[in-house]
Amino acid sequence: MQAIQSIEQVRGVVQQWRQAGQSIGFVPTMGNLHQGHLSLVKAAQTKAERVVVSIFVNPTQFAPGEDFLSYPRTLQEDQEKLANAQVDVLFVPNKDEIYFPDASTRITVSGLSEQYCGASRVGHFSGVATVVCKLLNIVQPDLAVFGQKDFQQLRVIQRMVRDLNIPVTINAMPTFREPDGLAMSSRNSYLTSKQRAIAPKLYQALLDAKDEALTNCKSYPEITQRQIDRLKHSGFEPEYFAICRSLDLHPAKPGDTELVILTAAKLGKTRLIDNIEFSKKI
Ligand code: PAJ
Repeated sequence: MQAIQSIEQVRGVVQQWRQAGQSIGFVPTMGNLHQGHLSLVKAAQTKAERVVVSIFVNPTQFAPGEDFLSYPRTLQEDQEKLANAQVDVLFVPNKDEIYFPDASTRITVSGLSEQYCGASRVGHFSGVATVVCKLLNIVQPDLAVFGQKDFQQLRVIQRMVRDLNIPVTINAMPTFREPDGLAMSSRNSYLTSKQRAIAPKLYQALLDAKDEALTNCKSYPEITQRQIDRLKHSGFEPEYFAICRSLDLHPAKPGDTELVILTAAKLGKTRLIDNIEFSKKI
């Protein structure tokens, strides 16, 4: 595996592959790689002949006071994992390679970015959309793979790619979970052992709410309020717990069939997010 820091160099390698008629898959990450990330890499490898993974802790998607400085950086281990997974190129730019000091262009995907995670993390999705657009322009892959773990992020990126006619296919992969159901996340390492024991209750709340939504006995606001109360009782500070339409994340109405339940909750200082997508036959 080749580790590359410069845009010019990564473009050169990708161009050679393309001239040889090879297809290119891309997995953008912020590093501290776990099995969830590696499942995206595997998916990219089954769909493309060459795979580029990027590691870039993107400063513009962290709001002031968030964990940008303390975000876990484990480049050595990440590099070994990617080499073992037979990734072709690791793109690890530094901040100056990605951002001009006087950069004045930001992408905003309005309508999908302001609510849920966007409400507490102001500017977050604009930072994500901007860096993903830049990375797609740098690597120019045929396909890019994202996790459903960050469901709102996935929808923001799909909308951006559609609206801006970016010539790439976006593939989504299911959330990779610990055996007890906790969604794998780089931020799980912030949890104390006591909090780690409580954390799977977030996924349990999503499963319970899904069951209730499918049985038609209660209204969606009743279902979500009950889970919010239960999460508080378990020690979480829920930020949102919402039953939405899967495609555009509008609040779900009784006749909607393609649904996702989105949630974010703090456990101590750690902010956890999770979701569950399902269909409801009417
Ligand atoms: P990061 O949190 O490192 O995640 C990189 C990719 O891995 C994202 O597509 C995310 O949805 C996926 N992922 C994370 N945990 C997962 C899990 N448990 N199962 C499956 N996939 C999982 O998301 C970002 O980085 C950044 O916002 C980025 C898109 C790289 C832009 O900076």
